[in-house]
Amino acid sequence: PEHLVDYDLTRPIRPITGMRQGLPNYGDPHFALFLRKVFIKALGYSEDALSRPIIGIINTFSAFNPCHANVPQLIEAAKRGVQLSGGLALEFPTISIHESFSTPTSMFLRNLMSMDTEEMIKAQPVDACIMIGGCDKTVPAQIMGGISANKPVLPLITGPMMPGSFRGDRIGACTDCRNNWAAYRGNEIDVEDISGLNEELAPTAGTCGVMGTASTMACLTAALGLIPLRGGATAPAVSSARLRIAEQTGSNAVEAAISKRTPQHILSEASFHNAITVLQAIGGSTNGVVHLLAIANRHPEVQGKITLQTLEDLGRKTPLLVDLKPSGSSYMTDLHNAGGMSALMQTLRPLLKLEALTISGQTLGEVLDADPFRPFPFSRQIIRSLDDPLHPASSLCVLRGNLAPNGAVIKASASKYRHLLSHRGRAVVFAGPADLANRIDDPDLDVDADSVLILQGIGPIGFLNPGMPEAGLVPIPRKLAAQGVKDMLRLSDGRMSGTAGGSIVLHISPEAALPESVLGIVQNGDMIVCDVEKRVLEIELSEQEIQRRIADRKPRLEGTKESRGPSERKRQPTRGYRGLYERCVNQAEDGVDFDFLVADGARACTT
Ligand code: FES
Ligand code: MG
Repeated sequence: PEHLVDYDLTRPIRPITGMRQGLPNYGDPHFALFLRKVFIKALGYSEDALSRPIIGIINTFSAFNPCHANVPQLIEAAKRGVQLSGGLALEFPTISIHESFSTPTSMFLRNLMSMDTEEMIKAQPVDACIMIGGCDKTVPAQIMGGISANKPVLPLITGPMMPGSFRGDRIGACTDCRNNWAAYRGNEIDVEDISGLNEELAPTAGTCGVMGTASTMACLTAALGLIPLRGGATAPAVSSARLRIAEQTGSNAVEAAISKRTPQHILSEASFHNAITVLQAIGGSTNGVVHLLAIANRHPEVQGKITLQTLEDLGRKTPLLVDLKPSGSSYMTDLHNAGGMSALMQTLRPLLKLEALTISGQTLGEVLDADPFRPFPFSRQIIRSLDDPLHPASSLCVLRGNLAPNGAVIKASASKYRHLLSHRGRAVVFAGPADLANRIDDPDLDVDADSVLILQGIGPIGFLNPGMPEAGLVPIPRKLAAQGVKDMLRLSDGRMSGTAGGSIVLHISPEAALPESVLGIVQNGDMIVCDVEKRVLEIELSEQEIQRRIADRKPRLEGTKESRGPSERKRQPTRGYRGLYERCVNQAEDGVDFDFLVADGARACTT
């Protein structure tokens, strides 16, 4: 029999796949293979099973991750798909990250998860790997790791949760978490209402049911060509359609393993062009920008070619078509029922690069031509046509100016009070989240509806909590909320949940924690100008005054002069993963990845 060859010392180990992959060669590779088979056989596998293409399935189930609660069923369905197609499915765990259970921030852990994913895919003898993810940071972490590992990888999305219902209104995490909480803070609803809502906002397993970061990343993964267009991004977590996607992913994985279709082979500048076009058309999460940049910078041929400028340029050509919260009014299940990503991509077709490859081996154009469900969409309410958009262009805009020399991002389509998008106002500055919590509701806070609320110290490194906490949605001071103020211009170096809306400028770079940051030297009363139309974010200070303040602050950051506040504290060296993070993380415009993990990361290790 074929397998006896494996133990024949007179023949070299055949350089093919499965259990023979990556054998440690400490002098006797035959023994290494012999040992490996000894141990895998402890699990009951036969030589026949072990001779098949081996498909790893990454299990990210965790009792702390309700967005991944359906992972066990997805694994079962994916295994079925693998085995029906003649492969052997072997599952293994990596870490799992949920937004609400990841102190200090989930973003702090994204790069750790990407390293876990990359190294386990590389270490183990898998011919291809299905990566099950869903919650915000998990999908980008897996794609980043998958690109770097560069074996065939197939994302499998857990899928969105169903909407809930409260007193006859549909509700869903987490746009409705935020607007109801704001209503409670403004005394519009009472404590009984808010506790009733708490029971219904996340009524099933799955990811947040609006166009938040998880839904955004699912749609971008489809736009990149890595998952099936039909249902891959949008089928609900608790639907039978989601299980069929899992089964299909299993069989696609065997095919991708045999064809050796790796992410570095599939993905190109054209794929990222399509993903950014989709990001703009869905009114996607601002977090999608950071993740896409990080993903692009893992690819040796794309690194540095996809930038904030690409987002800005494609945004100007791309209308907002998808009517989902927070930019619109519907839920992911509605998008799925309207034809999902197939329908959207058919609608966007004139704006897409059809030559981009997909995981199936076909180009995007071939996939769209072959879609049996044309013409799309089923509802023009949810997916509008190119000539009847919700917002003409530039759902996400990139701002620059002396306050954000390396860029800042605003989701203009999620601002309902559009006068704030062209605004000049007095800065009210908070030095980090603790300072904000202490003072925002102080009745004596010197603030009015025209003030610009500035939160420093929530960037990639931050003053206190690393990982760009989603604190960019600075709350409206209680005394103004009580007067009916619903929105104000708010600026920070942090992120905002994809489920949130408002006139919020994010990702200001360089972040306030860095000595050269202009955001770090803003003081109460400085005049701020934000003009989204002109893409400008300025502080009305002379260049001379800016440089004087930076030079004045620097010795306090270095600890050679006494600090006057939390924005000027000397950074203490930190041990462990946090120390690694603080030393190596790059800024928002580069994706907040570690400098040694990007495609040319070897450079960072030699300098
Ligand atoms: Fe997991 Fe929203 S918390 S997707
Ligand atoms: Mg989120």
